[in-house]
Amino acid sequence: MKVRMGGKSRDIPAVWWEDGKVLAIDQTRLPGTLRITKISDHRDVALAIKKMVVRGAPTIGATAAYGLALAWKNGESIRRAVKLLISTRPTAYDLFFALDWMLDRMEEPIESAIEYASSITGQCRKIGEYGAKLVRNGSTVLTHCNAGALATVDFGTALAPLRIAHRGGKSPMVLVDETRPRLQGAKLTSWELMNEGIEHAIIVDNAAGHYLKSEIDLVIVGADRIAKNGDAANKIGTYEKAVVAKENGVPFYVAAPMSTFDPNIAGERDIPIEERDQSEVLRIGRERIGPPRVAARNPAFDITPARYITGFITEKGIRKPSEIAGLIGKR
Ligand code: MRU
Repeated sequence: MKVRMGGKSRDIPAVWWEDGKVLAIDQTRLPGTLRITKISDHRDVALAIKKMVVRGAPTIGATAAYGLALAWKNGESIRRAVKLLISTRPTAYDLFFALDWMLDRMEEPIESAIEYASSITGQCRKIGEYGAKLVRNGSTVLTHCNAGALATVDFGTALAPLRIAHRGGKSPMVLVDETRPRLQGAKLTSWELMNEGIEHAIIVDNAAGHYLKSEIDLVIVGADRIAKNGDAANKIGTYEKAVVAKENGVPFYVAAPMSTFDPNIAGERDIPIEERDQSEVLRIGRERIGPPRVAARNPAFDITPARYITGFITEKGIRKPSEIAGLIGKR
């Protein structure tokens, strides 16, 4: 992705390998500060995933792959490194997919990790090409959380069709859900759309229903795990957007590479939902909200049943939920 660093324009991914280290954009500092973190130990890679320095399902997978390469380089136990990396975040299937993929290619782990990360970017470009056909000139598109370059090593899933459409001369208007509690929409998606010059506005999560009734032509979101029947886990709040979209006849698309599709699970009951710390809900920045000692609940994801999903935008084309089981089977 194109960024401004030290007064210069640079093209960098969300995470990469350089001089025997893993480098990553620290996503907890954006949009205020563009800081690159350098990691030389797989334990710190695990921490970076857990603390959401890197986040978004495909980026989590690629970072874990690099973590395994570091463990190998440092002569650590691969079995223990896998166990640690796998324990970081339970919902994103890409994490499990990437580690499995790596374990099959441990003759050259560093090259394998680099290949894994770059393959995601290629898949995202294809997602963009297929999905751009859905974006009409002048249409208003809603997105939730951040499924852009930061979440996918580069280019994005939900944001990829918007990038390609925009580069091809179309002018979509994007409404960006702020995405409480961690504000990935307001902080990260808005930053990416600004860098790309795509017109957009941040809305509070509660405003999406209002605009789905009146202005929104299309919804595109990413996913963290998709079951064989097409049920899809994504950032908390996605489910209600899908229900309101259907109620108002607005097409609702999920954009994801095949590494997010879990061939081992039949449907939503089998998708583990990460519960994060209460403090993410009870604080806005440094300010504590709510009375002292009040409890909070903080599920990081929810699941949208397949019946609310118009289609999946994948690197293999656009598919209906009923086609997902067959698609996963062919992988
Ligand atoms: O908790 P996060 O920020 O890792 O959640 C990210 C999302 O929910 C994204 O929408 C999803 O990973 C798709 S990223 C292409």
